[in-house]
Amino acid sequence: MTSILITGTTGQVGSNIFEYTKKHTDWEVTGLSRRPGEAVDIVADLSDREAVKKIARSGNFDYIIHTAAITKTDICEKQKEACYSANVVATKNLAEFFPSSRMVFFSTYAVYNTLEGNCDETCPVSPTNHYIFTKIEAEGIVRAMENFLILRPSVILGYTRFERETKNYFMQLLDNINAKRTMHSPVDQYFNPIFVDCVTYLVYQGLKKNINGIYNIGCNEDISKFSFNRMVMERFNFDESLLEGISSGDLQVARPNNGTISSKKIQADLGFELPSLGEMINKLYISTL
Ligand SMILES: NC(=O)c1ccc[n+]([C@@H]2O[C@H](COP(=O)([O-])OP(=O)(O)OC[C@H]3O[C@@H](n4cnc5c(N)ncnc54)[C@H](OP(=O)(O)O)[C@@H]3O)[C@@H](O)[C@H]2O)c1
Repeated sequence: MTSILITGTTGQVGSNIFEYTKKHTDWEVTGLSRRPGEAVDIVADLSDREAVKKIARSGNFDYIIHTAAITKTDICEKQKEACYSANVVATKNLAEFFPSSRMVFFSTYAVYNTLEGNCDETCPVSPTNHYIFTKIEAEGIVRAMENFLILRPSVILGYTRFERETKNYFMQLLDNINAKRTMHSPVDQYFNPIFVDCVTYLVYQGLKKNINGIYNIGCNEDISKFSFNRMVMERFNFDESLLEGISSGDLQVARPNNGTISSKKIQADLGFELPSLGEMINKLYISTL
């Protein structure tokens, strides 16, 4: 039977992939995270080499979906060593003790740093903060493995029913709405947000079709953060007067932040077209009901 280890299953993406594979496959699914939870079979800190060695002694996995990381940029800046351990050392430990597993590693679209945006997988990468630095380092470790898939997702949208210390993009937006706080969204920062279920589906298809290498994943539309937030607020019937457009200059951002990526490669290699952003927001809405 195919065995799969999913790391970071108390998080948004890991828990979603865990639920999907449990429901749609006959694989032997193991969830791992630092804390107990509904989707957690093994509680372990992956930056602890001995702990990872011990897990490896009790068996191997055909696939490892490695989503575990410290994902918040500001936390990574303040706690550089902890971020390095969680993002780089943890990946190194998995690569060392599971060298023959097929590794699916979650990197980020933020590794690209160009003014033009619309980056495909050949665009240059460079670290503009510590979080991105650790992702680029970890990518290097994964690339040295025999069998790997590196995903560089844009912002991932998902509704999580469980409480998290750190909130994802959509949950932060929801918090602001509930607190009736005015949100200032840049009209000139573009990105390609993607619904978490689409991410999970791409991972599953990527495993089934055995694609290898580096892939961007984001929706096919480039949209500003302001327009995107407005789309979400319209669909959820939220009070749109809580949203104000600003220019990124007001946020004292040093350069225009063009975070757009092209996800043509993964769609071509999997023979699958992602739904439109409107459809994704609709699915996000349904997931909250
Ligand atoms: N969400 C996005 O918009 C986005 C965009 C681009 C890339 N990504 C990447 O996609 C991946 C998944 O993101 P996400 O949104 O699901 O993140 P998340 O919700 O913050 O979840 C991260 C998970 O990793 C666990 N973890 C952290 N350090 C660990 C360690 N040392 N050992 C074991 N588990 C550890 C966390 O456990 P705790 O509960 O203990 O913290 C949590 O379960 C990450 O690698 C992230 O960098 C995410």
